[in-house]
Amino acid sequence: MKLSWSDVTPEALFLNRRSFIASLGVAAAAPALAAVEKPNSFEQITNYNNFYEFGFSKTDPADNAGQLTTDPWAVEIGGLVDRPGSYSVADLAPANAVEERIYRLRCVEAWSMVIPWLGVPLAGVLEKAGVQPGAKFVAFETLYRPEEMPEQRRRSMDWPYREGLRLDEAMHPLTILATGLYGKPMPNQNGAPIRLVVPWKYGFKSIKSIVKITLTDRQPVTTWQAMQPREYGFYANVNPQVDHPRWSQATERRIGAGLLGGRQETLMFNGYGDQVAQLYAGMDLARDY
Ligand code: MTE
Repeated sequence: MKLSWSDVTPEALFLNRRSFIASLGVAAAAPALAAVEKPNSFEQITNYNNFYEFGFSKTDPADNAGQLTTDPWAVEIGGLVDRPGSYSVADLAPANAVEERIYRLRCVEAWSMVIPWLGVPLAGVLEKAGVQPGAKFVAFETLYRPEEMPEQRRRSMDWPYREGLRLDEAMHPLTILATGLYGKPMPNQNGAPIRLVVPWKYGFKSIKSIVKITLTDRQPVTTWQAMQPREYGFYANVNPQVDHPRWSQATERRIGAGLLGGRQETLMFNGYGDQVAQLYAGMDLARDY
């Protein structure tokens, strides 16, 4: 059975996950990866965003991203791969391979959400492209299209937005390319049509609206690290013990918790330590922040 976007499931039905998954035909292969907390609402997830290409306030992406053309879309995969080329979103994330992953998202600004993504493991995409033995890192780039991305017409940042992962992080089963959320195609403000989600790292690593994936033997230059290296590292693993120079990372504000909700403790690796801590064995995470 194929996943059909015309078969949009209302949010209320989502809470009945089994029938929701059955109705969409989404492969339910990884239920253990779900966060146990209640997901944020579709309203919250799509109206409180960081997508600086559309402006710097939290509501700018919802206000301005509607104009982004996301179809047709091509992702160029290149560098140290056997099969470089231009891939469509359907090539990378065919409907019958799309899985649901409910993950916490912890922004470096100390707010968080729980988001029910749809996507495919990045590992499968890279395996299909054929990773060559010399590859050690994966670099990602967002679309550069100033006609449709108003903040790119200003020199407020060094566009396009760039991110990167070590190859073992990219191949980790928790790392996905997401193409939707809440059973719907990815809203533009969340990074349509295809974005990265790395749930144990600060949200800025989860680059949106990807057009380029490059396998390389060198650690790539990433947007935030290049801009403020003292404040934002290449690794950016969620770590309550390593504070941002200007604020504590010990606690976070869950969006939607309300004024009386209070702050909650931030978990090492955003709570995914059992799955990912071994990637960093022997590393000093205060130095490699
Ligand atoms: N990707 C691009 N291209 N541009 C951005 O400004 N912001 C990052 C990340 N990916 C950003 C981006 C930051 S800081 C966060 S916290 C997450 O996207 C936010 O994802 P969300 O808006 O879907 O919650």
